[in-house]
Amino acid sequence: MAQTPTWAENIAPILYANCTKCHHNGGLGPSSFLDYLDVVAQKSSIRYNVEQKIMPPWPGDPSYRHYADERILKATEIDAIINWVNNGTPEGDVSKAPKKPTYTSDSKIGAYDLKITIPTYQSSAKSGDIYRCFSIPTNLPANKFISAVEIIPGNSEIVHHVLVYQDTTLNTDNLDKADPLPGYTNFGGTGSANSILVAPYVPGSDPIIFPSGTGVKLFKNARIILQIHYPAGSDGQFDSTLCLIRFTSQPTVREVFIAPLLHHGSISNGPFAIAKDQIKTFYQSATIPVDVSLLSVMPHMHLIGKSTKVFSKPPTGDTIPLIQIKDWDFHWQGQYRFQYLQKISSGSKIQSIVTYDNTLNNPNNPNNPTKPITLGEATSSEMMLTFFYFMTYKTGDEKILQDSSLISAGIFSSKAIKFAINQNPAHDQINLGMPAEEATLQIVDEQGKQVLSKSYDQQDTRIEKRLELMFINVSELASGGYFLIVSTKKEGKVFYSKFIKL
Ligand code: HEC
Repeated sequence: MAQTPTWAENIAPILYANCTKCHHNGGLGPSSFLDYLDVVAQKSSIRYNVEQKIMPPWPGDPSYRHYADERILKATEIDAIINWVNNGTPEGDVSKAPKKPTYTSDSKIGAYDLKITIPTYQSSAKSGDIYRCFSIPTNLPANKFISAVEIIPGNSEIVHHVLVYQDTTLNTDNLDKADPLPGYTNFGGTGSANSILVAPYVPGSDPIIFPSGTGVKLFKNARIILQIHYPAGSDGQFDSTLCLIRFTSQPTVREVFIAPLLHHGSISNGPFAIAKDQIKTFYQSATIPVDVSLLSVMPHMHLIGKSTKVFSKPPTGDTIPLIQIKDWDFHWQGQYRFQYLQKISSGSKIQSIVTYDNTLNNPNNPNNPTKPITLGEATSSEMMLTFFYFMTYKTGDEKILQDSSLISAGIFSSKAIKFAINQNPAHDQINLGMPAEEATLQIVDEQGKQVLSKSYDQQDTRIEKRLELMFINVSELASGGYFLIVSTKKEGKVFYSKFIKL
């Protein structure tokens, strides 16, 4: 058998990359996994939760489809954790442990154009969950295109999910005014039929950044409504969540739409009604009339929902899997972004098979005894929607990578340090100085797709390795704009430079 894994060399890197963004003091996860002793204290529970694949939370079935930035442990990582716990949780050589990550409420998108802050709200969610909507005017003088949206929870211990809507009517303002406290309570949507979903947020998700040159339209004078889920037991705690929006400054923008391409009108075996103690499956189908590019998929049901499977059947060729969730969890509904934009050709069908469990075997059933369920926005009613972010297709869309490599490399963060390279525009080669410490170097194109990556390890004394990082060969890159990103390991600094390859 291989050597026993140690905290310093094997376990800390896994937990820091996959767990601590929720499991730190002040985070949504119940315990902090930043320090050795805290982790050892939870070892059995950690082993159980990763072995059963309960943690990290990711309801999408990875055997059906993979996504950008998915939260899934590799089989080797699960084995390492189990092995470590079963072998006495050795600490190992602490000098080899990675730097402890720090968590702040700083913006990751950096510059923004609109800042929406909810008034400070004190949760009263004692024995039941509360879904509170806050309606805030934007006073936008003209339509704008959103290129990035970021939610910064005011109190990340109690903000379980946030849905961002826009509405050009005063409906939500009236609802807000009718309630003496900040905001108003509404479970399903905003309570206004005119509200349009803009963006979903679940804890641990990165800001939504649309591919370069694309964006969602925010209407002139629209109000932004944040619907925030505060879980039972959060009563007495305060929150003031922020929503930051950046508009695109590009002169031509491709509009990204968000809509339920599968909705109640597309149910083929309706009417939508589930009797007491019944398990029932419904089918939906819609034909897509033009070529579109899907950015992401987002199924939506309430508490009776059990499972969903969504796929596309093109006029010719194989079925395209879009998403499968075998064990629906209302509290972890979110957006699943395709790794590359998914083309759906004109004439394709998009279909879903969705099952509801209205028995008492469903631990989330809000009714005991069970009650008949119909369509509606209330907690005790149901919905059957599959939302998509999409736009009309353009040649080359399949090559657009949606990965937060740019964000994690720090390029959108205010902390990244801009520098200028000498060879810009570049022909064949970029010359950099010798890095003083261990560093990685990446080149990504304007869509965020990594086209080159190298790392420099100080232990490696081979001269050719050093020269590789000093003289970067870019002769193979297609002409266009790129970012060069250098991240240093010890100090955790990120430097970037934009350049044009001729
Ligand atoms: C996106 C946020 C998030 C991430 C990432 C995450 N967790 Fe959790 N974790 C939670 C929440 C929230 C709970 C509380 C139960 C719930 O709501 O599902 C929890 C509960 C747990 C529990 C039960 C602890 C208790 O005190 O009840 C363990 C153990 C756990 N997580 C381990 C992990 C491990 C190990 C990872 C990484 C491999 C991880 N979690 C990643 C949010 C997260």
